[in-house]
Order: sequence, then structure tokens, then C-alpha cells
Amino acid sequence: MGISQSPTFVDLHPATDRFLDDVQSGLARTPKSLSPKYFYDDRGSALFEAICGLPEYYPTRTELALMREHVVAMAASLGSSSLLIEFGSGAGIKTEVLLQAMQPAAYVAVDISSAALRAAADRHAAIFPGIPMIAVCADYMQPLEIPGLSAFSASRRVIYFPGSTIGNLTLDEARGFLRDARRLAGPGGAMLIGVDLKKDPAVLHAAYNDAQGVTAAFNVNLLERINRELGADFEVAKFRHIAFYDAVAGRIEMHLESQCAQSVSVSGRRFAFAAGERLHTENSCKYSVDEFRQLAQSAGFRARQVWSDPQQYFAVHLLET
Ligand code: AVJ
Repeated sequence: MGISQSPTFVDLHPATDRFLDDVQSGLARTPKSLSPKYFYDDRGSALFEAICGLPEYYPTRTELALMREHVVAMAASLGSSSLLIEFGSGAGIKTEVLLQAMQPAAYVAVDISSAALRAAADRHAAIFPGIPMIAVCADYMQPLEIPGLSAFSASRRVIYFPGSTIGNLTLDEARGFLRDARRLAGPGGAMLIGVDLKKDPAVLHAAYNDAQGVTAAFNVNLLERINRELGADFEVAKFRHIAFYDAVAGRIEMHLESQCAQSVSVSGRRFAFAAGERLHTENSCKYSVDEFRQLAQSAGFRARQVWSDPQQYFAVHLLET
């Protein structure tokens, strides 16, 4: 291992300025809802890492196994000397597998959680001292201007978007997001994207209702974060974690259900909850292989290859612009 430099860190200050506005308008809506991007403060990112290790939460380990098994074929299709841009890099275990096989000309990690981003980027830089790296703290669900990107000479741009985070978006939002990604990848570019498959509802239900209650803690942390950062007074014990699979919509929904009539103040504004009223915190859409290929094509991508596990729990798609 050579001497590694700390990756260049670019902070585009995601979410902090809009957090209060988004929370107040989300609580004023009927039904009440908040964006799942706000789950990922430092504590939320740590809870999500704990979820990834749960016996019931199959996506992370299934996707990692798929990467380990097929990364040589993936890298062969993607080619060498590319500029690799990763969205939602998180802890970055899958990234290491991909970096090793691809040996890109440069690597750009984008994540909304600055602690998770710094920790992963420093680790990657130590393991791959020859690969120039930029860590960008940003909300990649919005169209991105990454400073300094055009300075890298690379054979092509490859966007890596693991974890099935695309499932957080509705179908129309996902199409818009993929169009933006195609624009960022540019002519001759590619995207490697992990997508959770439709499957037995019992398997899905267990994955979002784990026995240890880590997913419940992850969901409730959103209220605790609002208390911490926005001076709110949620009594978190009076809210219950709910997650269920809607087979018609093909998605998991997560909610926080008020256990009694109560009101909450957020930076001086009060919001009333009826007993049993729900605050919608996340959608996690599931796509069959064909559904996702059609979605990608409708966003202007060509769907090239797909890798999935024998149980058909998870798929990794290779798309080209
Ligand atoms: C990171 C959005 C893919 O939807 O499975 C895990 C987040 N929520 N458990 C998912 C999550 C509840 C996760 N994504």
C-alpha cells in the first residue's frame, strides 16, 4: 500500500437549509409525509448500517454477493480508465469490490451523510492510493453540478448507484432521476444500478419489520432528529413504526403512527395528530427485471446486462446512454 492522500472533500450542504421548510410543509400536508432523505443524519446512517447486517434484511448481503460473483464481468463490460461516480456511497463495501476490478481513472463519491462519506472515502483512499478521489456531500436526488469533474480525462463516465435507493422514488420521479443521471453520464456513458426485485410479501415484510426493532429505531430517529435539530417536541414513545407491502403498488411503505391525539411544535409552529394518524416516511419500490428495464429505456438508457441471484431477490443492471 502506498502513501494515500485524503480525498478532496466538497461540501454542497445538502438538506440543512431546507430541512425546517420541508418538515413544516410535510406536517401541514394531508396525509402528512416527510422525505426519506432526512433519515440519514449521523445516527440514522449508523442505524442504516445496522439494518444492513440484520438477518431479515436480505438486500445488502444479496447485492454484495452479486458484486463479488460478477464484478469481473461487470468491469469487462464497463471498461477501464473510466470516471466512476457513485451516488449514495454509504459505508462503501460494494464500492471496494468494484474499484478493485475496474481500476477507474478517478472516483467521485456522492453522499448526503458527511460522516459516512468521509469515513468511506478515507478508507478507499488508503486501499487505492493510485486512484484520485473526490468526496461530494450533496443531495444527488437533485441534478448535480460537481465542481472539477471535467478536469479528469477518462474513457467514459460510469455512474454506480447501488442499494436500491432508486426505490425511494415514485415511478415518475425515478424516470426523471434516471434522465438526469443519463445527462451526467453523457455520450458513451454507463450506469450500474442495484434494484430490489418483487418477491414473496412475507420476505419483504420481515425485512422492514425486523425482530430486534432496528428498522423501527431508524424510522423513529427521524422524529428524534427533528427534535435535535429543529427544536421540536415530538414525544417519540407516542409514535409506532409501521411497515407493510402494498402488492398493487409494488412497494413497501413506512409510516409513523400517532398512538393518541396529540400536538407537536416544530420551531414555533404547532401540528395536530389525530389518534391513529400516520406520517408517511418512506416508499421502497420493488421492480421486476422487465419493469426496471422498461423504466430505464423510458428514460433514454439502453438496458444492456442484468445480474441476479438464484433466489431472484435482487438485480444489478448495466445501462448505457
Ligand atoms: C436505502 C432506501 C434502499 O428502502 O430498503 C431500509 C432504506 N428503509 N429499511 C430500503 C431502508 C428501511 C433502504 N434504501
